[in-house]
Amino acid sequence: MDNSKDCSMYTEHIESGKRKVTLNLTVNGRQVVRDVDPSMTLLHFLRDNLKLFGTKEACGEGECGACTIIMDGNAVTSCIILAVEAEGAQITTVEGLAKDGKLSILQEEYIKADALQCGFCTPGFLMSTRALLDHNPNPTDEEITEALSGNLCRCTGYLPILNAVKSTVERERKELDR
Ligand code: FES
Ligand code: FES
Repeated sequence: MDNSKDCSMYTEHIESGKRKVTLNLTVNGRQVVRDVDPSMTLLHFLRDNLKLFGTKEACGEGECGACTIIMDGNAVTSCIILAVEAEGAQITTVEGLAKDGKLSILQEEYIKADALQCGFCTPGFLMSTRALLDHNPNPTDEEITEALSGNLCRCTGYLPILNAVKSTVERERKELDR
């Protein structure tokens, strides 16, 4: 996936002797405007600036998937994207899955299937799953495995996660048929 953007479109200014860029994006349906350090990652912007601590940091190198979010419809690892690259983007983090205080079907099915233990990797798995099902509501086992191949879990095992995704597919299909 190409996350690159032409940085010439950003206007930098100096604030208290530091370079800043004004960033304008939508996070979980809310418009956000913030001045950020141009070298700040999207992960740190979400956690440190917006206090959305559901998105986790582990490897910090794009290898483990713990920091996965959805940006403009695609699952991306936010630790290797600069916040300024998200200018104008639509971002969904794990906090955006529940609606009106009610967990989403996807979250409920992960819980029912015991698809987590420590839970550190879970937000990343949830976001990769959500992006998959938004693009492909009826994936094969192979397609699920492929879509989640960038997410690592050290303590649950992948079978319960696969089962959670499959039962989400079933329930979401029933919801659509109603
Ligand atoms: S923390 Fe981003 S991929 Fe591991
Ligand atoms: S549930 Fe612990 S790392 Fe996945």
